[in-house]
Amino acid sequence: MQTEYGANLRHYNSFGLPAVAQTLVRIASDADVRRVIDHPQLGTSPKFVLGGGSNIVLTRDVPQVVLKVEVMGRQLLREQDDAWIVEAGAGEQWPAFVQWTLDQGLPGLENLSFIPGTVGASPVQNIGAYGVELQDRFDSLDAVDLRTGLTRTLGPRLCAFGYRDSVFKQALAGRTVITRVRFRLPRPWRPQLGYMELQRKLEETGFSQPEPQQVADWIGAIRRAKLPDPAVMGNAGSFFKNPVVTPEQCRDIIGRDPTVVHYPLPDGSVKLAAGWLIDACGWKGKSVGGAAVYERQALVLVNRGGAIGSEVLTLARAIQESVYGRFGIRLETEPMVV
Ligand code: EPU
Repeated sequence: MQTEYGANLRHYNSFGLPAVAQTLVRIASDADVRRVIDHPQLGTSPKFVLGGGSNIVLTRDVPQVVLKVEVMGRQLLREQDDAWIVEAGAGEQWPAFVQWTLDQGLPGLENLSFIPGTVGASPVQNIGAYGVELQDRFDSLDAVDLRTGLTRTLGPRLCAFGYRDSVFKQALAGRTVITRVRFRLPRPWRPQLGYMELQRKLEETGFSQPEPQQVADWIGAIRRAKLPDPAVMGNAGSFFKNPVVTPEQCRDIIGRDPTVVHYPLPDGSVKLAAGWLIDACGWKGKSVGGAAVYERQALVLVNRGGAIGSEVLTLARAIQESVYGRFGIRLETEPMVV
């Protein structure tokens, strides 16, 4: 357990927003969490768990004790007839972990390639992209309870995954530290190529049976065309969730603009493309201070340099108001605002 005081969090959040943690503790193991809990001062202070910082907007200094999860390690745990079970420490970088699985001949995560953040943060918001969500590849995870210090193993049911949602954003928010995550990669591997842009890659290349690495390379190309690399331009991925509406609401919106991008869901509701709604309101490229709407994907807010959290929030609120005014839809933010 390593403790720092007055730690600058700018490099620990993918938006690159400035904020200071009064106390930051590096957590390398479950035992480190228990050391914090048993510590005479730190034990009683409120805690804030920081993963890869790829899904937060820091608007102020953080008075809580920041627990920076740095549990490392990755391994193939078991080979079953129908799946490989792979485990990774919560502090591992997600993109490097996915590439490692591919290098080991353990495919299944390739559609989730290049999503910024850490392994430990991946179940919190049930990351998803290009037709695959974390819950489709999830086995179980270990999490330390911040009150008792006990490590618990949680399976998919207890994690209560939803669209960019889980129990860790709801009932267990701020109450546990995820230390290890296990993935279930189904055998035999079958590529997931239903997403329209992947279909286009198939047609362009003429491949009918792409290898897992080929799919990962396509995902990389698709992402680079639309999404900014946080190492180059700070961002937190999609800033808003795609709203789900009733068929009546959808008809109302089609009445306002017949070109609205929408996808019917199996339960009869309809998912709308938030990026399209924002784009239709003319937001691409607009800015507040250093915060701006990304030119190539209106769902992503970026730090053009020197942005502060309140500028990001002011921009986000203005977008929400304008989308509400034009379409009657309230957009929900995806990252956590601190
Ligand atoms: N669109 C526009 N203008 C825009 C942006 C999008 O018209 O500025 C339209 C597109 O043309 C497309 C539709 O909106 O018809 C959907 O766009 P896209 O395929 O880029 O996906 P998305 O719904 O905007 C979601 C996820 C992304 C994920 C992609 C691919 C959410 C909130 N976002 O974006 O996840 O990578 O699908 O699966 O669900 C993230 O969560 O951080 C994230 C990046």
